[in-house]
Amino acid sequence: MIVVEAIKEIQEKVSEFRLQGKSIGFVPTMGYLHEGHLSLMEQARKENDIVVLSIFVNPLQFGPNEDFDSYPRNIDRDEDLARNAGVDLLFYPTTSEMYPHKKLSVSVKVNERVDVLCGKQRSGHFDGVATVVTKLFNIVLPHKVYFGMKDAQQVAVIDGLIQDLNIPVELVPLETIREEDGLAKSSRNVYLTKKERKEAAKLYEGLNLAKEAVRNGVSDPEIVKKIVVEHITNETSGKIDYVELYSYPELETISVISGKVIIALAVKFTKARLIDNITFVV
Ligand code: PAJ
Repeated sequence: MIVVEAIKEIQEKVSEFRLQGKSIGFVPTMGYLHEGHLSLMEQARKENDIVVLSIFVNPLQFGPNEDFDSYPRNIDRDEDLARNAGVDLLFYPTTSEMYPHKKLSVSVKVNERVDVLCGKQRSGHFDGVATVVTKLFNIVLPHKVYFGMKDAQQVAVIDGLIQDLNIPVELVPLETIREEDGLAKSSRNVYLTKKERKEAAKLYEGLNLAKEAVRNGVSDPEIVKKIVVEHITNETSGKIDYVELYSYPELETISVISGKVIIALAVKFTKARLIDNITFVV
């Protein structure tokens, strides 16, 4: 595995591979890798000649009161994990490499699929994601890109970005990887206290209760959301940010549950805000 910090260098390496006719799979991350990230790398490994992983904690997607400074980082461990996962190129740029000027003269503004869920609460977050992802796509020039459904709204936004800006890349969304008790793996789970960690399994349990209710014929989104809210309120000390149900990937409000839908939630614990979701077709 080659570790590259300079944009110019990764571009040279990638263009060599492209000239050799090799397919390039790309997994963008912010590091502190866990099995969720590894599943993306494994799939990329299966489907491509060359696997590129990026680790970059992107300041542009963090709000002023969010956890940019305290976001967990451990590059030595990440390098070992990436090497073992069969990554060929690890792109690990500094902030000044990615953002050499104080201000960007051009950035990406996301118009649809962002006024709900995390986008509603984290103003500008998805503009920051779409901007860095566009830069990374242009730097790495991948054939296929791998994203986790853990961040289903991010997948919906990237899907829109690729379509509307005609980016010649194939989006591969992959299932959420979970702990044994159902908690979605996340770099932020380390912030949970022991008691909260136990309670956190109730989030996925709530989502499954809701899905079961839909399977049993409940078609009113309000009733389905209430099932999740009540479960989390009764079973955890977390504070619910939102529990929502929308069409997917459009993220539009529906009055009767049908077609592909997402039930998504965000719950705040003392030091961690957890998100989770399930999507399914009715
Ligand atoms: P990060 O949170 O590091 O996540 C990188 C990728 O791993 C995302 O596609 C995310 O959905 C996926 N992922 C995280 N937890 C997962 C899990 N439990 N199961 C499956 N996939 C999981 O998402 C970002 O970074 C950033 O916003 C980024 C796209 C890199 C742009 O800065």
